[in-house]
Amino acid sequence: MRGLVCLLVLLPILYSTIDTILPRFFMFDPVRLQQLSQASIEKFPDNATLLMEDLQASLRAEYGDKHINALRKDAWFFNNAGGAMGSMIILHASVTEYLIFFGTPLGTEGHSGVHLAHDYFTILNGEQSIFYPGDIEPTVYKPGSQNHLPKGRAVQYILNGWALELAQGWIPSMLPFGFLDTFTSTLDFQNLWNTIYWTAHGIIGQLLVGKF
Ligand SMILES: *[C@@H]1O[C@H](CO)[C@@H](O)[C@H](O)[C@H]1NC(C)=O
Repeated sequence: MRGLVCLLVLLPILYSTIDTILPRFFMFDPVRLQQLSQASIEKFPDNATLLMEDLQASLRAEYGDKHINALRKDAWFFNNAGGAMGSMIILHASVTEYLIFFGTPLGTEGHSGVHLAHDYFTILNGEQSIFYPGDIEPTVYKPGSQNHLPKGRAVQYILNGWALELAQGWIPSMLPFGFLDTFTSTLDFQNLWNTIYWTAHGIIGQLLVGKF
C-alpha cells in the first residue's frame, strides 16, 4: 500500500522531470523548417511532387543524410485517425521527434487527436482550416504558413493538400492514435504493418546513431 502511494507521488514528478529535459534531445527548429519550406514553395509553387523532392534535399543538406530518410514511393502509407484519412512518409522518427510529409490530394476532415507533443504543421500546397471549440470563424493556413497545435490541445481540421509536419514530445505516446482505426474501422493490416515497420525503422535507426 505504501509502495503504491509512493509510486503515485513519484510518477508525476518523474514524468515532469523527464518532460523538462526532453527539449535537449530536439534537433529540429520549427522556424528553420518553415524557412526551408518557403524556399521550396517559391521554387515549385505548382508542383507538389517537385516541391517535396526539393524540400527533402534541403532538409538533408541542413540536418544530414543520416537523420533524413530518402523519398521512396514504397515508404508512403495511409494514416486513418480521428475520422480523417491521408498518406504520409516518415522523413525522421525518433523517440522525441518526428518529421513527415502528410496530406491528401483529395481532401479530408477530422479530429487532430490529443498528444503529449507539440505539433508544427507547415502547409506546402493547398490549404488547411482549423477551429478550436469556442471559435466561430475558422483559421485558414495557406502555403508557407505554419500551424502550431500545442501539446494537449485538439482542433477540428480540414486539409486539402500537403504539409511538412514536425512533432516534438513523446512520440511513442502518439502511436495508438495512428494505429487504432485499423482495428475499429479499416482492417488494413498491410498498412498497419507498413506504419509499424517504418516507425520502428526510424526510431531504432536513430537510436543507433545516437539520436534519442
Ligand atoms: C509535377 O512534376 C512531375 C515530375 O516532373 C510530373 O510527373 C507531374 O505531372 C507534375 N505535376 C503537375 C501538376 O504539373
